[in-house]
Amino acid sequence: MTTIKKPLLMARELVSGYVSPGDTVVDATAGNGYDTLFLAELVGEQGKVYSFDIQSEAISRTTSKLLDANLLPRVRLICSGHENLASYLKEKVSAVMFNLGYLPGSDHSLVTRPETTLTALKASLEKLTPGGIITIVLYSGHAGGEEEKKIILDYCSKLDQNFYTVLFYGMINWKNHPPSLLAIEKKYIS
Ligand SMILES: C[S@@+](CC[C@H](N)C(=O)[O-])C[C@H]1O[C@@H](n2cnc3c(N)ncnc32)[C@H](O)[C@@H]1O
Repeated sequence: MTTIKKPLLMARELVSGYVSPGDTVVDATAGNGYDTLFLAELVGEQGKVYSFDIQSEAISRTTSKLLDANLLPRVRLICSGHENLASYLKEKVSAVMFNLGYLPGSDHSLVTRPETTLTALKASLEKLTPGGIITIVLYSGHAGGEEEKKIILDYCSKLDQNFYTVLFYGMINWKNHPPSLLAIEKKYIS
């Protein structure tokens, strides 16, 4: 039976079509480590995942998930803001995943912020290889979430269509601020 995928799962479905074994990719918000684990499986033994979070708790939760799956060697965990992405990444990447908001089961006031998210997004666009993808799962239910969503949507809606294709996806009849998804594909330019 087919059902409509929630934004989190749709993000993974999209990313899996853009990443090949051996690629370098980024999880911009490690959190509980689910996306980092997903990406580590996707890039295979020769690939590399850079995974950022500002909270040491998130880094340790992600580390233990990777250890359990025996995938830690493929991942560089960085306890720093994704706004510093450019200083850690020398190579181009085929995918960057953002999952904004707060760390579930932790301090809800420690959230992603529009200015730093925007800086990280701009750096990601620079580092993205043609034919690569950036996914951003947006939340609007927490303090500051609606503003962040608006600013990111506004920025992405103005990206030049000659260079990028931008998708917006979400459930428009769901109550209680359901998450939504932005996906940005960098086009091949001949
Ligand atoms: C919704 S959670 C991410 C969930 C994660 N993708 C997963 O699969 O479990 C958002 C995370 O963003 C982190 N965060 C907030 N500001 C950040 C920043 N400037 N750079 C990197 N991570 C940040 C938070 O600490 C939190 O862990």
